[in-house]
Amino acid sequence: MQSEAYRKIEAEYDYKRQQAQKDAKTFKENVYDEHPQLAQIEADIAKVAIESMKARINSDDNTRAKEQEKLEKKIEELQVEYDKALKRIGLTLEDFEPKYECEKCKDTGMYKDAMCSCFKQALINESFKQSNMLKIKDENFETFDFGYYSSNPDKEKYGIDKSPLEKMDAIRKQAYDFSHKLDDPEQKNLLFSGTTGLGKTFLANCIANEAIKQGKSVIYQTAPILLDKMVDYQFKYNKTENDREEYQKIFEVDLLIIDDLGTETMNSAKFSELFNIINTRLLKGKKMVISTNLTTQEIKNLYEERIFSRLVGDFSILRFIGEDIRVLKKKINKA
Ligand SMILES: Nc1ncnc2c1ncn2[C@@H]1O[C@H](COP(=O)(O)OP(=O)(O)OP(=O)(O)O)[C@@H](O)[C@H]1O
Ligand SMILES: [Mg+2]
Ligand SMILES: [Zn+2]
Repeated sequence: MQSEAYRKIEAEYDYKRQQAQKDAKTFKENVYDEHPQLAQIEADIAKVAIESMKARINSDDNTRAKEQEKLEKKIEELQVEYDKALKRIGLTLEDFEPKYECEKCKDTGMYKDAMCSCFKQALINESFKQSNMLKIKDENFETFDFGYYSSNPDKEKYGIDKSPLEKMDAIRKQAYDFSHKLDDPEQKNLLFSGTTGLGKTFLANCIANEAIKQGKSVIYQTAPILLDKMVDYQFKYNKTENDREEYQKIFEVDLLIIDDLGTETMNSAKFSELFNIINTRLLKGKKMVISTNLTTQEIKNLYEERIFSRLVGDFSILRFIGEDIRVLKKKINKA
């Protein structure tokens, strides 16, 4: 039986596919209204095509071949004329094509007889209520803005010789590299550490975006929500097949992003789930990005040794530095 989430996404796909087709049609009609010669040429092409068809039916072999050739040439000429007319107004044929969100499956959800990766991801977004996945359209490697990071080193404040700009440039590179090495067993996981507003969630979204572009599946959750969900699952009576699948996905998706580690209120059930996620995914070689406001020392104090040792041993720790971008943005808006 198909789940409710599946039916919902399917309906959304039907809608957006039809919408894209409708928009394309409207766009073409508007262009034709403004440039009637295009409509004229298109009508001429259709007319010649019909003539060509008639000629095929009505004439004997000899005249047919000649007639056919003549008409085909005529169609070609008209097509060239059409292309030229389009070009004069700065368009190409492609501009009349529907703009699908997914070029691969053309928003059908199916690709080469299987569920398209975009559809799989939409299912995950739906069942994990990943509303932030809408944000990744704005927060990606293309929109990453270095303007918020100072080029002045401040050793006293940050404890390193590099400026925030240099440091963040290196971190961005590492993150980009990581997003293209999700299948590489040599590639370590990433732990983003740093105070509030330095762009940890932003960069995690960049990675999610890049991964999804490659057809990878991604779950993004904050630690408190993820761990609550997992503990709820463990204590739930009458688990449905859906519940089981959803829980399983946490261990199986290509990339799991756990944001805001350290903001959850911990108890032994959550410790055990957190350990379970990290350990199982490490064993399977499935990548993780974890972000936290905690320092390494604080992680050591807060979590059990077996969690701490994995976070330190199997993750590259990227320490974000700079000034709170939320504050900087407010200042800019006021100025
Ligand atoms: N590189 C960047 N380019 C443009 N905007 C950015 C960049 N990094 C962060 N921002 C913006 O700055 C704000 C704070 O960033 P973000 O939420 O990623 O911080 P954070 O480190 O996750 O903070 P917290 O620890 O509080 O969760 C957001 O509005 C985000 O969109
Ligand atoms: Mg954040
Ligand atoms: Zn698709």
